[in-house]
Amino acid sequence: MQVTFVTSNLGQVDPASIDDYIARGGYRALERVCAAQDYAQFTEELKTAGLVGRGGAAFPTGLKREMAIRAEPEHPYPAPESVPERYRLSSSFIVCNADESETGTFKDRLLLEGDPFRIVEGMTITAFLACATVGFIYLRGEYLLAYERLSHALRVARARGFLGKSILRDDSSAPLTTSFEFDIEIRRGAGAYICGEETALFESIEGKRGEPRAKPPFPTDKGLFQRPTIINNVETFANIPLITLEGAAAHRRFGTEKSPGTRIVCVSGHVRKPGAFEIEMGTPLRYVIEELAGGLKPGRKLQAVLIGGAAGVFLRPDEIDVPLAFESLSSIGATFGSGAIIVFDDTARLWGVLKRLARFFRDESCGKCFPCQIGTQRQFEILERITGGKSRKLDESAVSEVELQILRDTGAVMKDASLCGLGQTASSAILSAFEKNLVT
Ligand SMILES: Cc1cc2nc3c(=O)[nH]c(=O)nc-3n(C[C@H](O)[C@H](O)[C@H](O)COP(=O)(O)O)c2cc1C
Ligand code: SF4
Repeated sequence: MQVTFVTSNLGQVDPASIDDYIARGGYRALERVCAAQDYAQFTEELKTAGLVGRGGAAFPTGLKREMAIRAEPEHPYPAPESVPERYRLSSSFIVCNADESETGTFKDRLLLEGDPFRIVEGMTITAFLACATVGFIYLRGEYLLAYERLSHALRVARARGFLGKSILRDDSSAPLTTSFEFDIEIRRGAGAYICGEETALFESIEGKRGEPRAKPPFPTDKGLFQRPTIINNVETFANIPLITLEGAAAHRRFGTEKSPGTRIVCVSGHVRKPGAFEIEMGTPLRYVIEELAGGLKPGRKLQAVLIGGAAGVFLRPDEIDVPLAFESLSSIGATFGSGAIIVFDDTARLWGVLKRLARFFRDESCGKCFPCQIGTQRQFEILERITGGKSRKLDESAVSEVELQILRDTGAVMKDASLCGLGQTASSAILSAFEKNLVT
């Protein structure tokens, strides 16, 4: 069902006004954390809440925080002299992944534009608990309005003592016994899909070419500038003040036992009312398509649904009763990914869609590892051959079993041997369309 939890401020606050934000409970969570000074309690609460990352990989957020807090940074600091002093002094970093480059995903933009202070507060709470003094927001380059609103929010938060050298202490009315230092910088991406991958993103912030690092070590041990780093998606950070203030139960009142909470889904394609909708986890996909997004145009029939974006899988029309929860999606071989739901009616040319997906991965592969560098190229070539450069199959004869087998083999090698998630998922949508006989 449609709900408002993480989107509760959208349309209700002036995104430029910190007073509006405060009037609706903003910064009370940060005050609570600072006053209590019980690092373990709030991380335990987050673990109990069962929040998992909303960027795609669904890693438990509380566990990530705990791992970073426990990590012991190397001393003396190994970074080269060229690393600015203010970064050297931060024993860990907080990074908000606002690259939002997954196909069909636009939820983070809405949160950044409509409720920027909540993202900033979520990062600040995390920084206090992890003793970080520097944070970064890595923002998709095309998000100009989000950039303006975030920049404004950071300036105002600094001026009002919610960011900077002595957070909250300047306000004599605040019943606090402590203060701490934390500030946030914005880095704008230049349009590479791979820079949304967390370690490629760190390389990009460090001023290097955006290529993923081998893991382990994981970011919680050695992330940005080699320091323990907590990187979370925008929607994940937006959940933090709410869970910190209202407790795990407030989050768990939505969703299922294994998938608590809410999720913003982005519905696009052949629906009458495309858009982003916050739903309770476990809401059936059919309800999202037919009720929230207005269903298909009259007279049209559903052909397929791509769930999870380019890195996701296709579903058949008879699979759309699946509840949108991690456990039910994985039981049919699908993932939630970034929350993208792309709907195709019977007018769509799926061969053309598959070829565009293949071209996307070929173009966006960073080329660092061979399985993906070569595999994404071969995958595209095979689809190009089958379609003769058009958006349909070349002729009416069946696609050769040899071509299909090469596609499957290439996909299997990319999945098993690629260095990062891009190569590991570059074939999943394409192969799922074949497996489900959506293209013949
Ligand atoms: C190719 C690729 C692109 C990604 N793009 C994004 C992105 O745009 N935004 C995002 O939050 N996570 C993205 N991720 C996932 C991040 O690597 C990381 O898992 C995430 O930022 C962690 O935050 P979370 O735990 O809150 O989900 C991407 C991963 C891969 C492999
Ligand atoms: S899997 Fe692809 S994107 Fe990832 S490191 Fe290898 S070549 Fe680069």
